Amino acid sequence: MKIFLDSADIGEITALCDTGFVDGITTNPSLIAKSGYNILETIAEICSLVDGPVSAEVTATDFKTMLTEGQKLAAIAPNVTVKVPLTRDGLMTCRALSDAGTDVNVTLCFTAGQALLAAKAGAKFISPFVGRLDDIGRDGMGLIEEICSIYANYDYDTEVLVASVRSTQHVVDAALMGADVVTLPPKILTALYHHPLTDSGLDAFLKDWKATGQSIL
Ligand code: E4P
Repeated sequence: MKIFLDSADIGEITALCDTGFVDGITTNPSLIAKSGYNILETIAEICSLVDGPVSAEVTATDFKTMLTEGQKLAAIAPNVTVKVPLTRDGLMTCRALSDAGTDVNVTLCFTAGQALLAAKAGAKFISPFVGRLDDIGRDGMGLIEEICSIYANYDYDTEVLVASVRSTQHVVDAALMGADVVTLPPKILTALYHHPLTDSGLDAFLKDWKATGQSIL
């Protein structure tokens, strides 16, 4: 399963890319706003730091303007994936960009029916938002299970990109279900390799080691 980082913060991205776990980046208009920087410059800089796909989202809502924005974002770097919302015009933009050879990530997906349409529109990625569904008392991971089954039934190439991840359990569940990608806020990526028993176990090993007076080097 690929791991993307859900961030537009250059400092965070640089630090976590050094771990070797980051296969790509997703951004959205809120994350760009939080960064405080220009979208075109920020996406260009992220693309220079990361080899994998970098999702950059359009902000228009009509087909014609979305397409023009998508073409402009795609021209920034070869690894830009254009992100469009799951609306009628967003799906039409997905079809047009995909037909022209541009990868598209269809975002803000909340039902399996929406995901089916994104696959038919030629999306490279579908982004179901599991955390936001859980927030309103729905079963976010249940949606991932449905989409994975539907895509497998018809051999769709669209990759299931689990978004709006709130916990390490979401990551484990996504892997068990065979999702292709998870996009993680930095704190969830960091939480994945932390465990209190790892920390206390290491403390005990180091204490015992120190008492031997030995050195490996
Ligand atoms: C994914 O592409 C989205 O940017 C993101 O996962 C949304 O997460 P949130 O619901 O925590 O804002």
